[in-house]
Amino acid sequence: MDKLVQLTRIGFATTFSFYVKVHSMHWNVEGSDFYEYHKLFEEIYTEVYGAIDPYAENVRKLGGYMPTSYHNLSMLTRIEDEDHVPSKEEMIQELLQDSERIQIVLKKNYDAAEAAGEHGLSNFLAERMDNHKKHAWFLRASTKGP
Ligand SMILES: [Fe+2]
Repeated sequence: MDKLVQLTRIGFATTFSFYVKVHSMHWNVEGSDFYEYHKLFEEIYTEVYGAIDPYAENVRKLGGYMPTSYHNLSMLTRIEDEDHVPSKEEMIQELLQDSERIQIVLKKNYDAAEAAGEHGLSNFLAERMDNHKKHAWFLRASTKGP
């Protein structure tokens, strides 16, 4: 398979699995400041969800096919699945790590898109990286203080 197509499928699957993880944390988070984190996670998953369809359409524009199952997605994603309910602090650390990881995955996709002259895709990816950087800032900032 074409390297750019595969990197784009990997970026898509990583983004999609991050979306699923943040949404489940929105449901599962607990604590005295529950509502604050429930809303923060909602803001993040809503933003990321908005990228799912355009990301998939970028794979198709390159002539690639989309993963057709959870199994396919889990083979492609570059972030770890979460199979238990972490504490609020663990959730934030995990999402922060994932946000940093996603930026690296997207940068690889971006570099390949630029090298192939696919500037529509690289513009999309530049915006995605910036949004994940913002999510990382919000998550990091929420761990500071008393
Ligand atoms: Fe909700």
